[in-house]
Amino acid sequence: MEKKNIDWANLGFGYLKTDYRYVSNFKDGAWDEGGLTTDDMVTINECAGVLQYAQTVFEGMKAYTTEDGRIVTFRPDLNAERMENSAKRLEMPVFPQDRFIEAVVETIKANAAYVPPFGSGATLYVRPYMFGSNPVIGVKPADEYQFRVFTTPVGPYFKGGIKPLTIRVSDFDRAAPHGTGHIKAGLNYAMSLHAIVDAHNQGFDENMYLDAQTRTKVEETGGANFLFVTKDGKVVTPKSNSILPSITRRSLIYVAKEYLGLEAEEREIYFDEVKDFAECGLCGTAAVISPVGKIVDHGKEICFPSGMTEMGPITKKLYDTLTGIQMGRIEAPEGWLKVIE
Ligand code: PLP
Ligand code: COI
Repeated sequence: MEKKNIDWANLGFGYLKTDYRYVSNFKDGAWDEGGLTTDDMVTINECAGVLQYAQTVFEGMKAYTTEDGRIVTFRPDLNAERMENSAKRLEMPVFPQDRFIEAVVETIKANAAYVPPFGSGATLYVRPYMFGSNPVIGVKPADEYQFRVFTTPVGPYFKGGIKPLTIRVSDFDRAAPHGTGHIKAGLNYAMSLHAIVDAHNQGFDENMYLDAQTRTKVEETGGANFLFVTKDGKVVTPKSNSILPSITRRSLIYVAKEYLGLEAEEREIYFDEVKDFAECGLCGTAAVISPVGKIVDHGKEICFPSGMTEMGPITKKLYDTLTGIQMGRIEAPEGWLKVIE
């Protein structure tokens, strides 16, 4: 299979139309057979549930070319499971987990020419999503839904690749204590747009959200979980019911313990502790691990000892091991890589 003529090394995190996408429709209580299409346009009623009341959930995953030329995706079973949880919380029908994985595999396979080559620095981002498609005017769940998967080749999420980021403590909250912060719903991102535009206007790369109830604990950013390293080399990540259960973070905790022999712990992290950490990073499918060099809290700066030019040493080890597993350079734990055949 011949790859598309794309300048892989200079891709940003953007949308580029690829050849195929997967579509399945839910009507009269059942999903149809579904299949691939070349049509990238969605036609829905002006009153569709998604347009009026934001009834939509999504996932984010990637396909990689390994060193030996295979195409793989990373832990798709966990994305399927999380999408089920997201759908249930928004009263949407579940797209069965086995069909979710099949749809993702089929879409990646059909777009194999867009999976960036090994070593190019780019990956194929895969976006499964689902939305209420029939007219809804009273506030209630839709009766009809569409599930889709599209792909787009991407480079680094943050401009500048792995240059440490400067983030600020946000005055806006992302998620309420018993709200929807733990699911991947479009509404969580819509409400973060003002905060991110404002952060960018003020010269920051991202927002650190604190817990909405006490504003004392670290939650996450708009699109990634936090990971910290203590001065004695322990990996710690925030535990909260209102953050997205990041697959990357859960994988990194395993990698820290089982591959690097580090202590790793998921626990509540008070913002007051952050100044004492040695390293900080953002982790997620899009972010991979993006190092944070500085956090600004209303003018007060916390500068991590790892500095503003390079990743901290433990963050780097985690990054190398995780990407090594994803790209087939390091043996993956059983079941982590799904080969696209
Ligand atoms: N937190 C938020 C708000 C996100 O949007 C994402 C991205 O998916 C993550 C965390 C990281 O999750 P994952 O590692 O499963 O991609
Ligand atoms: C992902 O990492 O897949 C996400 O959905 C995050 C988003 C901000 C791009």
